[in-house]
Amino acid sequence: MILFFLIFFPALFTKAPIYLSNFEAINQLKTFLPSDQDFKFLDAGCGTGRVLKALSSEFPKGSFEGIELSPLLALFATFLTWRSQNVRVKLGTLFTHQLKNYDYIYAFLSPVAHAMLYEYLEKLGFQGTLVLNSFPLDKIAHDLKIEGKQTLFLYKLNFTDKDLRLPEKKG
Ligand SMILES: C[S@@+](CC[C@H](N)C(=O)[O-])C[C@H]1O[C@@H](n2cnc3c(N)ncnc32)[C@H](O)[C@@H]1O
Repeated sequence: MILFFLIFFPALFTKAPIYLSNFEAINQLKTFLPSDQDFKFLDAGCGTGRVLKALSSEFPKGSFEGIELSPLLALFATFLTWRSQNVRVKLGTLFTHQLKNYDYIYAFLSPVAHAMLYEYLEKLGFQGTLVLNSFPLDKIAHDLKIEGKQTLFLYKLNFTDKDLRLPEKKG
């Protein structure tokens, strides 16, 4: 009962499902991360940490962070990645986390949470790449769509150049 509470209770508020990214989606993520330069990657709602674990071993120049609302999942992710020196997992909500300094932010939450994340990034003046799993934004068009059992939507955001983004949706 306590286990159930620790894992699922936070999700009642965020309406984010406890699905995990599948291997296909993780492999797709690998195709656009740079192997020859430093970068900062955040898994916003990192769940068990499997995305962080899989990516960090293949991109030693990357710095990987995860933030997770569920205490039990945050603990699990910490254990899963404890040997990976380029991974850090934090317990907390992404909506009070400083998200501005990442090059890549990955999220697999819910349509509502993705819209909230976009607005939060806008407020912070985020410049970087946002990758959303399964639930695209209504507000703006994606720059790239990678279809699969879990489809990825990639947005290149530069909120200091807001005029470059037109609020229209691609099909
Ligand atoms: C669908 S799972 C995805 C897990 C992982 N990113 C993956 O792709 O395998 C979403 C996770 O986000 C967490 N979550 C939901 N809202 C959050 C928030 N506001 N801040 C941090 N984590 C959140 C949930 O607890 C859940 O573990």
